[in-house]
Order: sequence, then structure tokens, then C-alpha cells
Amino acid sequence: VVDIRKFYNETGMFTYDPGYMSTGSCSSSITYIDGDAGILRYRGYDIAELAENCDFMEVAYLLLRGELPNAKERDEFHWTISHHTMVHEQLHKFVDGFRRDAHPMAIMCGVVGALSAFYHDSIDITDPYQRMVAQHRLVAKMPTIAAWAYKYSQGQPFAYPRNKLNYAENFLHMMFSTPCEEYEVNPVLAKAMDRILILHADHEQNASTSTVRLAGSSGANPFACIAAGIASLWGPAHGGANEAVLNMLNQIGTPDRVGEFVKRAKDKDDSFRLMGFGHRVYKNYDPRAKLMARTCHEVLAEVGAEDEPLLKIAMQLEKIALEDDYFIEKKLYPNVDFYSGIVFRAMGIPTTMFTCLFALARTVGWISQWKEMIEDPDQKIGRPRQLYQGATARPFISMEQRG
Ligand code: ACO
Repeated sequence: VVDIRKFYNETGMFTYDPGYMSTGSCSSSITYIDGDAGILRYRGYDIAELAENCDFMEVAYLLLRGELPNAKERDEFHWTISHHTMVHEQLHKFVDGFRRDAHPMAIMCGVVGALSAFYHDSIDITDPYQRMVAQHRLVAKMPTIAAWAYKYSQGQPFAYPRNKLNYAENFLHMMFSTPCEEYEVNPVLAKAMDRILILHADHEQNASTSTVRLAGSSGANPFACIAAGIASLWGPAHGGANEAVLNMLNQIGTPDRVGEFVKRAKDKDDSFRLMGFGHRVYKNYDPRAKLMARTCHEVLAEVGAEDEPLLKIAMQLEKIALEDDYFIEKKLYPNVDFYSGIVFRAMGIPTTMFTCLFALARTVGWISQWKEMIEDPDQKIGRPRQLYQGATARPFISMEQRG
């Protein structure tokens, strides 16, 4: 590792690294990835063990505070989060301002950014207590806002949070309860949702997390920083991939057409890529994809959709791609998004909500990373340099001369 800051101070030279392929932007103790070995750990704990043995609130506590909670700490944390789940009634009016067919990610981005206007007078980021309250508010209100975005698109009244439910159950309740019928929690689906939230909770310095850190490095309001993260997550190369995977599987249509699409993905003159395949860091099977595939089978069995045609297409696609020289050579494996869309669909979650779910899970990671950055004495305002390739100095041309 080269200390670029020292290198720059001594030589006046800086690195040219579009896409930050080999630039470390911070030091962090939150998430560890070994992309070659397919390892992901939160605070040193393997993702598979956390997904198997913990609930999302324990993992959120771990990411935010650095240690797994004991039973008392877990209960207190759950109490705190559940007592911040309400969102100010005035924000309904804000949501009402969106077009009825607005994408739920656009609504989430706007509403979370608007929280900064609600808490602008109580967010002094130099005060650790206020920083902690901001973390709690964000983690707690995200499911409410995501469910609002969905309800609004359906033209249904918003469902209020139920504090007696756990985090995942509460989200499902707010998504699916109507004034006519209260959602009855299905423990298998709630457990699957909880595990999905754990798998998406953090992933070190990806595009959206780096966006949150960059926005926050100027001292910006944390709600505004998270809104910036949501915007970055939305793209199809990042969190929007789960939506894109489902669209792709639908486009493929039947397992016998998989070969045709794999061929297209390899063609340099075709911009088509296999969605849910490849990763900047993983050059091995994404460990989250393995857990997601297992969750997919459990959920489909629970809802009686073992014969889901899209799963058959996905499995055929995985099989063909993993045996293909192009994908082997470039080390392209399924990533977390490959199976998540099929799981969400089986749970009755519409495609446009997929990335919102990712955003609500990742909020825990974003705000943990924001906190770590604010508390890091070495952190400076983020300010990348550029390789200028524009015109050299030119004499000014007056309007008359320009004709
Ligand atoms: N299908 C076909 N070819 C691919 C794919 C793919 N899904 N992904 C990468 N490649 C090829 C590229 O064409 C490139 O080939 P080349 O070296 O001949 O030019 C090579 O593999 C490397 O790809 P890059 O785009 O340079 O790799 P990068 O690290 O920049 O991109 C990314 C990673 C964006 C995830 C890419 O693999 C991709 O677009 N995948 C599909 C979208 C997706 O699933 N995104 C979700 C990522 S996970 C997440 O955000 C939670």
C-alpha cells in the first residue's frame, strides 16, 4: 500500500484511477471482503454465520457499535428503533406531491433528503449524542418510508408501524396491510426478509457508500448524505441490478433461449450484459449469492412456487455461464442480485420496490460508515483530482468575432 497523500506532498504527482479501481479512500474497521476467496465479514464475523444465527437488529447493532449486543442491549436497541419508526405526518404532504406513477426510489430519495429539513435544527454532527439519534432515526424510519413509497404507487392509504413486530415483520406489515385486512405475518417469509436485510447491510466502499462518505466529508447533514447514497444505489450497475435481472429473465423467457443471451453478453459489439453477474471486488462466487440462492428455494417452497419459470431460467443461466470460457476467464460469477429479484417477487414485492429494499437494508451500512468517517481524525473532505484533457489556454473570442 502506497501512502498517496505523502507521495503527493513529496512529488506533486497524483494517481489517475477512473472508477477508483485501486484507490483506498479511507481506513475502516467495519466490513472485510476477500474478493478472490469469496469472503465477506462484518466486524470480523462471517456473513453466513451472522445470517444463520442473528436477526437484522443484532447485525445493525454490530455494524453501528462494533460488537454483537448481549440480550439486554439487543432488546434496548430494538425498543429504541421501534420507537423512532413513525415519520412526521407533514411528510405525507411531501409524498403527495409526487406523480402517482413516480418510481419508489425517486420518492425515497426525495423523502429521505427532506428529513434533513425536519431535523436540521437538531443535527450537530460534532455532538456524538446527536449523531447517534440521527443513526437511530434513519434505521427506524427507512422501512416506513419505503412502504409509503409503495402504498402511494398503489393508491392505498399508508399503514402505520406496529411496535410489537420485529423489523422485518413490521416492514411486511406496512407493505401489505390494508384498511380492509391486517397482514398476517408468515414466519418463513419474515425470516427470509430478515436474512435478505442482513446480506445487504454493508459492503465496504461500493459506489453508494463512497457517495455517502464523500457527501458527508463536507460536514453535510446525515439525512442528505443518505439521500445521496440512495441516488447512487439506484443505477442498474449497482442496486438497480436486481430489478434489471428480473427484466432480463423475463426477456429470455424460456430456459432454451439462455444460450442466445449468453452469446450476446460475450459479444463486444453488443452492449448487453448478464445482469446479476460480475463484481468489482469478487472474483469468485459472491458469498451473499449462495445464501440468497438458498433463501430463494426456501421462499419458493413456502409459497408453493417451486416450479417458478424464472428460477428455472436463472439456474440454467448460471449453469451455462459458469461453464463458459469467457465467464471463467473474466471471473464473472453470480452476485447478490442474481437471485434476490426472484425471492422478492415470490414474496409479492413488485419489481420497482426491489432497489428500495436494498436501500433500506444498506442504510445501516451507510450510516455506520458515515459515523466512522466523522469520528476518524484523519478524514479530510473528499476531493478527487482529474486528468485535464480540454483545450490549452486560448485567446478570448468576442461575440462579434463569433459571428
Ligand atoms: N456480462 C458480460 N460481461 C461482463 C459482465 C457481465 N455481467 N460484467 C463484466 N463483464 C466483462 C466486461 O465486458 C469486461 O470485459 P473486457 O475486459 O473484455 O472489457 C470485464 O468483464 C470486466 O468488466 P468491467 O465492467 O470492467 O468490471 P467492473 O468491475 O467495472 O464492473 C460490474 C463490475 C459493474 C458489477 C459489472 O460486472 C456489471 O456490469 N455487471 C452487471 C450488473 C450487475 O449485476 N451489477 C450488480 C453489482 S453487485 C451490487 O451492486 C450489489
